[in-house]
Amino acid sequence: MPVLDPYSFECLSHSEEQTQRLGARLGVLLPAHAIVALIGTLGAGKTQFARGIGAGWGAQQPLRSPSFTLVQEHRRDRDQRVLYHIDLFRIENRDGLQSFGLQEILEDENSVSIIEWADRAPDLLADEALLVKFELTSESKRHMTYSTRSASTWQILLAFRKSAFGV
Ligand SMILES: Nc1ncnc2c1ncn2[C@@H]1O[C@H](COP(=O)(O)OP(=O)(O)O)[C@@H](O)[C@H]1O
Ligand SMILES: [Mg+2]
Repeated sequence: MPVLDPYSFECLSHSEEQTQRLGARLGVLLPAHAIVALIGTLGAGKTQFARGIGAGWGAQQPLRSPSFTLVQEHRRDRDQRVLYHIDLFRIENRDGLQSFGLQEILEDENSVSIIEWADRAPDLLADEALLVKFELTSESKRHMTYSTRSASTWQILLAFRKSAFGV
């Protein structure tokens, strides 16, 4: 039985733009080695949120749906750090995960990683991962649950909540 993450909060996004703005608020706060795990069905808004994160973090190019490439590498001008945008939609089993080296990417302490369909690699998600779960409540509304098992990542989430919602 999955243990409920001890640190979590929820919100509602009313539009694609709002989801992107929320992503951007989070993106500016992400430290090196942050791992953002996005969970939700097709069309839930994972890529829109990732796009916002990339913009807030400072990626040179807009993030796009990486479904056909598994991983896309982005850089920012400020310090040449790397952001990996990963999509596990096409990963079918453990062998697939190993062959593309996700573990090595996630161990890179200088880089931020965003993983769409992160629930397909539960074993690789450290406690420090920041989870965002998306649920469709109507055509334009998405229920989002932010959570983590780590006290230090929770501080990032609290700063994000303050920045995005003022509380
Ligand atoms: N509140 C919302 N947040 C995010 N996307 C939304 C929202 N309302 C409608 N949408 C639409 O849902 C789709 C989400 O697509 P995408 O982000 O690619 O999903 P995923 O990556 O989860 O498969 C887009 O077509 C977007 O316009
Ligand atoms: Mg996507």
